[in-house]
Amino acid sequence: MAGDARIAWERARERYPADAHLPLPRWATRGLPDGPEEAWDAIARVSAERSGALSVYVHIPFCETRCPFCDCHATIAPRGSREAVDRYIDALTSEIAAFAALPGLAGRPVTTVHFGGGTPLAIGAEAFKHIVTVLRESLGTHGATEWALETTSRLLDDAHIDVLDGLGFKRIHVGVQSLQSQLRRILGRREQPHEVLERIAACLERGWVVSADLLYGLPGQVGAMLREDITMLADAGIHGISLYHLNAGPHNVRFMTQHGLAERDETRLCEDFMLLAEGAALLEELGFPRNHVTHFARPEDANLYSRHALRGEDLLAVGSSADGVMGPYFYRHVELDGYGSAIGPVPLSGGGAYTAAEERARPLVTRLMAAEVFADGLDDVSLAFCGELEATGLLERANRGGVWRLTTAGSWFSGAMCAEAWSLYDGARTSR
Ligand SMILES: C[S@@+](CC[C@H](N)C(=O)[O-])C[C@H]1O[C@@H](n2cnc3c(N)ncnc32)[C@H](O)[C@@H]1O
Ligand code: SF4
Repeated sequence: MAGDARIAWERARERYPADAHLPLPRWATRGLPDGPEEAWDAIARVSAERSGALSVYVHIPFCETRCPFCDCHATIAPRGSREAVDRYIDALTSEIAAFAALPGLAGRPVTTVHFGGGTPLAIGAEAFKHIVTVLRESLGTHGATEWALETTSRLLDDAHIDVLDGLGFKRIHVGVQSLQSQLRRILGRREQPHEVLERIAACLERGWVVSADLLYGLPGQVGAMLREDITMLADAGIHGISLYHLNAGPHNVRFMTQHGLAERDETRLCEDFMLLAEGAALLEELGFPRNHVTHFARPEDANLYSRHALRGEDLLAVGSSADGVMGPYFYRHVELDGYGSAIGPVPLSGGGAYTAAEERARPLVTRLMAAEVFADGLDDVSLAFCGELEATGLLERANRGGVWRLTTAGSWFSGAMCAEAWSLYDGARTSR
């Protein structure tokens, strides 16, 4: 197994650089051509011509404390004063109202409403309920809409579980990170592993779909630790697991430096890849095939938010730094600092239309991200590229005819692979 993973690494390295990253949104590569006002006008124009189901993402960037390893866009919800939180909620609900006022939008059925952050429950149960009520009254949610939430296990106490149950939540994504006591200490996670598992069990008892985040590439982490975490979660009855490589970003410089991870050389990156390979192989064996670049799931966990594009749905994103897509148009919000004080109904930093070349690449990129590349509807250029990826061990044939699956190497190198896919039709393939 280790030998196979090493061979897979070496083959893939002939094509892409070792330093992996996840696929980037289009704006991160080529910026936001339109400013905030033009972007809002474009969204309104495009929205008028769109119909069918959509998915909703709500970003709440507050946490109880700031974890040292975290590279997310999140800030501490101040205990003494609610001013910053209240200002945020006002801006968020105004934004929801502005979207809902676009002709036809409120009538579109909502497949999922996914709350991410941050730790959305950190704003308090009443404020959280208020946002859910506004969404329910403003958009086309219905009995089958999947309400989903990302949270720490710490905030999944019985009272919060009751609140979520009362609000109709059906999917909980728990930030476990690790179940190893020594790693949890380094990560600043105070609950004991058995307490985390108890919280997961309490969610499963409600009949919810429950999934968990685990990190790999942590200081001192070895394969046996990751395998034990996966086994404990699988034994607990979890439905899905995301495996995230510990990422370096502006928010965790101190943590990465302190643990000698600020610069990871090829040897270290290859070791991390081997950890991923061990974890992924065990997950497949336990009945959790990959259903997104970083996510493995039993059939119960359809991972609706991450796979919205595969269903051809728009992503209506609200909240600071949130990225959305409306038909042929992508947009991004301002960061938290500017969110409550932006001018206009929707605090956007800008947007842009996909180019004709990008539109041709979109079906393939969407399938690569979903870890499931079916050939239907792909043209010769995309199919030839899939053949190249297969020859490099980044895709493999699945059992079903005409379908490729992302391999572990494909997942590790997904950022470079998708960057190359985006430029397939513009005559400027970037990564080769
Ligand atoms: C935005 S957080 C929300 C979850 C929740 N606040 C928590 O911490 O449990 C989503 C996930 O991002 C992942 N994450 C945070 N920092 C990371 C980093 N430096 N590298 C990779 N993944 C990270 C964690 O696995 C976390 O559960
Ligand atoms: S890991 Fe989660 S709880 Fe910790 S700072 Fe990041 S978003 Fe907040």
